[in-house]
Amino acid sequence: MHKVAQDVYWTGYVDWDLRVFHGYATPMGSTYNAFIIKDEKPTLIDTVKYYGFEEMLGRIKDVIDPKEIRYIISNHTEMDHSGTIDNLLKLCPQAEVVCSDKGEDNLKRHFKKDWPFKVVQDGETLNIGKRDLVFKYMPMVHWPESMATYCVQDKILFPNDAFGQHIASHQRFADELSVDTTIQEAAKYYANIVLPFGQPVLRVLDAIASLPIDIICPSHGLIWRSPSDVQSILEQYRQWSSHQTDNRVLIIYDSMWQSTERMAKHLYQHLDKSGIPVKLAHLENSHISDVITDIMFSKVVCVGSPMLNNRMLPTVAAMLMYMKGLKPKGRKFLTFGSYGWSQQGFKEVEQSLTDAGMLQAGPGHYVRFIPDDQDLEQLNNWVPLIEKIFSE
Ligand code: FEO
Repeated sequence: MHKVAQDVYWTGYVDWDLRVFHGYATPMGSTYNAFIIKDEKPTLIDTVKYYGFEEMLGRIKDVIDPKEIRYIISNHTEMDHSGTIDNLLKLCPQAEVVCSDKGEDNLKRHFKKDWPFKVVQDGETLNIGKRDLVFKYMPMVHWPESMATYCVQDKILFPNDAFGQHIASHQRFADELSVDTTIQEAAKYYANIVLPFGQPVLRVLDAIASLPIDIICPSHGLIWRSPSDVQSILEQYRQWSSHQTDNRVLIIYDSMWQSTERMAKHLYQHLDKSGIPVKLAHLENSHISDVITDIMFSKVVCVGSPMLNNRMLPTVAAMLMYMKGLKPKGRKFLTFGSYGWSQQGFKEVEQSLTDAGMLQAGPGHYVRFIPDDQDLEQLNNWVPLIEKIFSE
């Protein structure tokens, strides 16, 4: 049994096989966390993805008879957390499904069932015996109906998707695995899932700022329990949601006949020689979910593509479409590439980056067919431009 606190147990499912989570590469797998609180009215917080049901049920049975469960809290409708409520309810005749008002609507749309719902309002308290559970609405972290559950007596926050990471592990706590690795994966998770919701995250951070929190139990990955780790992940979320970046450059590109690649590598080498922290991401070999994580930390993003049928390369288009959804606001961008006879696609690159919330730092540098030395040297002019951006 995995004990989180006195009479609070982890009853989730470790997904060792998961390698893609709707487009997000998850080389470390993932975890769907559910928690049982053994009190006068036993309460389950969240469930797991459909294929984890038997494992979750076994873990619940290690703690209590499922017939005794009185509340199943659905903090978030998405099926990685609510996918097994229907199966579980068949074994829990006394249970009510506790959710937000929008959560009830969502669950009815997903399951087409009229379960015994107990809709709770933002700030409402539910007594389950020795404990009080307070619900905090967290609209758009991750969906409009999302909410967190806070256990007053144990000072545990169950914030569902917030503060999570896609990690499969036999360890349950960040300090048991590695806090550095857990923070790193929390950053990737933030970049790929939470990045568009900076304002809602800041509102949540403000709403929970007055709560004493000893333990944070997210719905994915490791639990944060030491005071320094709890403080650290809260501070990281404030930084990430405020779109704070480092003075570093990310060059993203793909190439057909190595002209755009030559430009990318020249720029990289020149920035590196000038002492500017810079990273190169060739889209043929870099997964978009890793690239967006690097974008999150970079103040300047340079994007290069050749023209193919008057358009950018499909790999670049896929990256930019992903960025448009995730909206890495406020970063500055510069564009470059090679073309044969039409520059039309470059306008689309610039527009896509603008639509993603980024600001154009200067005119794009586009070269017909193969860049010569003079063409490449023109990229050197970006060094003082980038240094100026860093000093702002
Ligand atoms: Fe982990 Fe939005 O579901």
